[in-house]
Amino acid sequence: MVPIGRLLISVTLLLPISIFSLPECDFPAIFNFGDSNSDTGGLSAMFGQAPPPNGETFFHSPAGRYCDGRVLIDFIAEGLGLPYLSPFLDSMGTNFSHGANYATAGSTIRRQNTTIFQSGYSPIALDIQYAEFSDFLKRSQIIRQRGDFFKNLFPENGTFSRALYTFDIGQNDLTAGYKLNMSTEQVEAFVPDVISQFMTTVKNVYARGGRTFWIHNTGPVGCLPYILDTHLITAAQVDKIGCATPFNDVSQYFNKKLKEAVIELRQELHLAAITYVDIYSVKYSLIGKAKKLGFDDPFLVCCGHGGKYNFNNAKRCGSTEIVDGKEILIADSCEDPSSRILWDGIHFSEAANRWIHGQIANGAFSDPPVPLKMACHKREMKAMYPVHFTLSDEHDKD
Ligand SMILES: *[C@@H]1O[C@H](CO)[C@@H](O)[C@H](O)[C@H]1NC(C)=O
Ligand SMILES: *[C@@H]1O[C@H](CO)[C@@H](O)[C@H](O)[C@H]1NC(C)=O
Ligand SMILES: *[C@@H]1O[C@H](CO)[C@@H](O)[C@H](O)[C@H]1NC(C)=O
Ligand SMILES: *[C@@H]1O[C@H](CO)[C@@H](O)[C@H](O)[C@H]1NC(C)=O
Repeated sequence: MVPIGRLLISVTLLLPISIFSLPECDFPAIFNFGDSNSDTGGLSAMFGQAPPPNGETFFHSPAGRYCDGRVLIDFIAEGLGLPYLSPFLDSMGTNFSHGANYATAGSTIRRQNTTIFQSGYSPIALDIQYAEFSDFLKRSQIIRQRGDFFKNLFPENGTFSRALYTFDIGQNDLTAGYKLNMSTEQVEAFVPDVISQFMTTVKNVYARGGRTFWIHNTGPVGCLPYILDTHLITAAQVDKIGCATPFNDVSQYFNKKLKEAVIELRQELHLAAITYVDIYSVKYSLIGKAKKLGFDDPFLVCCGHGGKYNFNNAKRCGSTEIVDGKEILIADSCEDPSSRILWDGIHFSEAANRWIHGQIANGAFSDPPVPLKMACHKREMKAMYPVHFTLSDEHDKD
């Protein structure tokens, strides 16, 4: 045997400063942009309250959410020690001291060429949400000058650059295409335009001082009874957990393009910390292991009316009928909403939202993989510092 001499290797590595050695972000406010997944009362303020039994679990009455209780953005706010977000459009009882919510149920990224009365999609598309934010930014500072009461209702100017900007939107752009009887190919063909309009909004918020962006990708729309019950889906198109593959493929295509957009945005917006969050995988795995997690059949809707899934698109959660001159609720909630993943066939239950928050808050589904509380720190830090390692081969003693 040839004895191996004592081996000393000296290596100098360039390591990024560990994100975990940095302080937590201490976000003073959240500004949210989105659709029903994060609406806390925007659509309700415009077109009437989401009917009971929405809100029953946590708020004990309708609370502008299409859910029995809290939606994901509520858990995000709670987790950061902030109050629930007031909807920008609500003119009653709002307090914007810690942010505002521009999301409305039915919102899309692109403006739709239909009215809400024709198609159900909200007129408050993402560019309108940005216009509202921009107006808020300017006018809140003017209104604050009226005195202390207003100073307690609106954030100070310095808040905007330190705030968390959250986005959860895109699902309705995809379903809107199907509603126009487009094929999957036709829907995919307009995705780049949708993504490009999304990027415009992120750049606009950045131009107004936004620096921390937390972007949710879109969920597996092919797992929702809203799709499963209203489209012709062949057995061959159903995957192993029971979701409709062509629809989920479109969601994943959108997500792939969204992720590419995030990479591009990071290159362009040098001071921004942008986190991409894989909500799709979280929701898909929740549905896939429902039983294991103690939930009922994941496709069985809690609040609905009849059919295979307890879902009827024409008689959604909270629908009433007049019987003998009396209004009765025909789409009421199930006995135990916390045992169901889906609340109404389109939206997740509070119990599901709580679980989803538990999965995403620590960064396990994020790119970069940083916890929400650390999301203000850029990963691709310019400051690299040299670390000197000396590796010695201990085996040469034998
Ligand atoms: C609305 O119509 C215009 C003009 O035809 C078209 O360019 C645009 O893509 C349409 N928008 C959507 C969301 O379909
Ligand atoms: C708004 O909420 C903040 C935080 O909860 C509170 O400190 C402030 O007093 C509230 N403003 C008004 C006018 O109620
Ligand atoms: C708010 O801050 C921005 C950026 O720092 C500044 O350009 C703007 O003039 C400030 N507005 C007010 C009302 O203080
Ligand atoms: C889509 O197809 C359905 C069924 O054929 C039809 O009832 C509906 O009017 C069509 N919608 C549009 C927007 O063309």
